[in-house]
Amino acid sequence: MDYLYLLATLLFVFGIKRLTSVKTCQSGNRMSEFGMGLAILTIVLVMARSGVINWGVIVAGILVGGGIGLVIAKRTPTTQMPEMVAALNGFGGVASALVAMADLLLNRALEVDGVGLKDLGVVPAVANPATILVGMVTLTGSFVAYGKLSGKKLTHPFAGSKRHLLHAGVGLAIIGLATWLVMTGSHAQMTIAVVLLALLSGALGVFLVMPIGGADMPVVVSLLNSYSGVAGAFAGFVIGNELLVVVGALVGTSGLILTQIMCKAMNRSLGNVLLGGMGEETVAKDAKDYKSIKSAGPEEVAMLLDGAQSVIFVPGYGLAVAQAQHVVRELADLLQKKGAVVRYAIHPVAGRMPGHMNVLLAESDVPYDQLWEMDRINGDFKNTDVVIIVGANDVVNPAAREASGPIAGMPILDVDQARTVIVIKRSLAPGYAGIKNPLFEMDNCLMVFLDAKEALEGIVKEVKELK
Ligand code: TAP
Repeated sequence: MDYLYLLATLLFVFGIKRLTSVKTCQSGNRMSEFGMGLAILTIVLVMARSGVINWGVIVAGILVGGGIGLVIAKRTPTTQMPEMVAALNGFGGVASALVAMADLLLNRALEVDGVGLKDLGVVPAVANPATILVGMVTLTGSFVAYGKLSGKKLTHPFAGSKRHLLHAGVGLAIIGLATWLVMTGSHAQMTIAVVLLALLSGALGVFLVMPIGGADMPVVVSLLNSYSGVAGAFAGFVIGNELLVVVGALVGTSGLILTQIMCKAMNRSLGNVLLGGMGEETVAKDAKDYKSIKSAGPEEVAMLLDGAQSVIFVPGYGLAVAQAQHVVRELADLLQKKGAVVRYAIHPVAGRMPGHMNVLLAESDVPYDQLWEMDRINGDFKNTDVVIIVGANDVVNPAAREASGPIAGMPILDVDQARTVIVIKRSLAPGYAGIKNPLFEMDNCLMVFLDAKEALEGIVKEVKELK
């Protein structure tokens, strides 16, 4: 059986490795899925061999859990992926917490009067309370994130130092309860400590995520994903399963790395995220204050594109909102047939979740070699005839090059260096950062004030007519 565990572990490790590239990510996903299937099968076989298996519960779990998962996954549109990932993290966290609670409450050795968790060794004494804490924080934090991502206005009851005091108080109470849980020799007291620890940890999860602005939730979700891995790894120690320890650690570390990459690309500090103090949404006073704006319609854009040798599309959040991924591909194909070199410039935090643009463009089968990451394409904008920005704003905002401001220091796509820049968005409204975008006022910039899908459909029609 150990060999099967090892094989599953290797499948997870190489699966994650393959997720790092657009070309190999689908096979990486399949590999990890296969690894998970193998892991479940191995555990069931181990249980069957030791005679502790309840086939009814196993089959019911697979049918009910798998069935619900399948329906939710099929029904969820890509725009709601962050919500779905948040919910899945929450379920992962609570599953680990329940394993630790069951391990304590159903453990015959702990029912003997005078015997406590401390007597079972250091590993259970640390792992059990830690699993309950991290698992419950992940559960409630994830569902607050879910609510915020779905547009619910959830605000923390306290602000400033009162808030920090409350968090510190809850933290201290949790440490006290965990110590009591480990030290007591009474099963009744341990039961009370377990329940209170679970409740307070749940409250901490709510308090930590509540003050964070809705638009920052994807970073929080990524962090909670990491927490769910940590809870899983602790649960692995609780039940003595090495595979769970390894997989939990993989999820924990890769989630943390992803959080760090997102923070860097958004110019946020990981410390702020961890302490739960990231910004509320605010809109700058001058965010709609523009002077020299030139606007154009699909017909003018088609004429400009007629002579273009090189075109770069820059997708952003608005592309996802408008669901314009198929029509953008149609326009790209048309331009390529006319002899232009067409590419897509992908900013690491374009949209609202990691890989958002890649997922969207993959839906319309955009060839991988046309997707260029920011660092690779940034030097090419100066040699590009036309850049078409589809529903992106912050990721192309030159204000990031200034010394101060909400996005100062955030790496951006250098679109302003292209010969002509076309921005498709419905209005002069700001993006997620809530600030003015000086790009819109530049001499080489033309605004198309339409819904992205409508604008691109219009341009496709006009380009076809020019043939
Ligand atoms: P944003 O800066 O949010 O701008 C999106 C723009 O799309 C808006 O200005 C909006 O303008 C336009 N838009 C919305 N619906 C549209 C539609 N139907 N048709 C056409 N345009 C539409 O997006 P971005 O440039 O992709 O930048 C992403 C931002 O989100 C960054 O600030 C990033 O830090 C942040 N963020 C990203 C992530 C990840 S992991 N990707 C996570 C959290 C936060 P109109 O309303 O005028 O149309």
